[in-house]
Amino acid sequence: MNLLVTGGAGYIGSHMVRELVRAGHKVVVVDSLLTGHEDTIPKDVMFVQADIRDRSEVTEVLRAYDVGAIFHFASRIQVGESVSNPRLYFRDNLAASIELFESALDAKVTRIVFSSTAAVYGDPIRSPIDEDHPKNPVNPYGETKLAVERVLAAYDRAYGLRFAALRYFNAAGADAADGLGERHDPETHLIPLVIDAALGRRPHITVFGGDYATPDGTCVRDYIHVRDLAEAHLAALGYLNAGGASGAFNLGTGRGHSVREIIDAVERVSGRKVPVVHGARRDGDPPVLVASPRRAQDLLGFRAKRSSIDEIIRDAWAARTR
Ligand SMILES: NC(=O)c1ccc[n+]([C@@H]2O[C@H](COP(=O)([O-])OP(=O)(O)OC[C@H]3O[C@@H](n4cnc5c(N)ncnc54)[C@H](O)[C@@H]3O)[C@@H](O)[C@H]2O)c1
Repeated sequence: MNLLVTGGAGYIGSHMVRELVRAGHKVVVVDSLLTGHEDTIPKDVMFVQADIRDRSEVTEVLRAYDVGAIFHFASRIQVGESVSNPRLYFRDNLAASIELFESALDAKVTRIVFSSTAAVYGDPIRSPIDEDHPKNPVNPYGETKLAVERVLAAYDRAYGLRFAALRYFNAAGADAADGLGERHDPETHLIPLVIDAALGRRPHITVFGGDYATPDGTCVRDYIHVRDLAEAHLAALGYLNAGGASGAFNLGTGRGHSVREIIDAVERVSGRKVPVVHGARRDGDPPVLVASPRRAQDLLGFRAKRSSIDEIIRDAWAARTR
């Protein structure tokens, strides 16, 4: 089956492209290069530099390549920016996704695997978080992802556009064989920032809040290896192809790691000291965000295989020091 990957030049999308090629699929990437990197796209993968809002171009791509399903990663991803400049998020995440779905309907594509996020839940009222947990996003980034999920649910009912919305917790790690890795600018994710502090590329890592009600006082998150994420997307496509009902699935491990544990793991893996500065809590940081991975296990048959914290950090370190 021929597949479209939007945002395939980005961090997670580029790992998805590798996974699909490994599985023998024909892939076409549509990416505006807003934040992506063209050099991550393998030479034998078709690349169209376009915005997903460009309906005539995207519909043409879907028809020309006889695309059967879309993996939709293209998005803005910075929570803080979504608070200070929400128009970018409603326009580029919500409105742009609706344009993409117009193209999908025009070209008669009936399956979408959508990159959603744990941010749709907001502050957890229970842990681990299952998919039925109340959805109360606390920032426009999460609002736009939840809105896209709701658009998809309505389009499924009305037009038969079937979907899997995959709510990632914290994507991390890298494809060790290919040396791909995280190249966000600005980088806001913890593991690359801690690695950069260990390498002396930044003076220190700031730990925001040390007095949370967690075992060591620092925030706890659920990290999943980016290659596991890519495998879960393939599993979701298989599920939709087999007639599985549309729905949302958490992608996490069910196990949390504190900021302190991540710093310790980077020191253990690298053999270097990480300079740490302690700062105040940040607004809107829940103490613990951990997924219940049950539904993805039961319905997609997905289990994370590479997501021990040492494996994630070993691969992230290898990619960042290449
Ligand atoms: N990184 C994480 O931990 C995480 C967690 C939860 C959800 N997600 C979601 O996963 C997806 C990928 O995240 P990432 O970390 O790889 O981000 P990224 O910024 O590395 O990749 C996004 C890609 O989309 C492209 N893009 C953005 N807007 C576009 C548009 N309008 N048209 C065409 N291309 C466009 C960018 O150029 C980039 O290549 C996003 O949807 C994000 O919300 C990521």
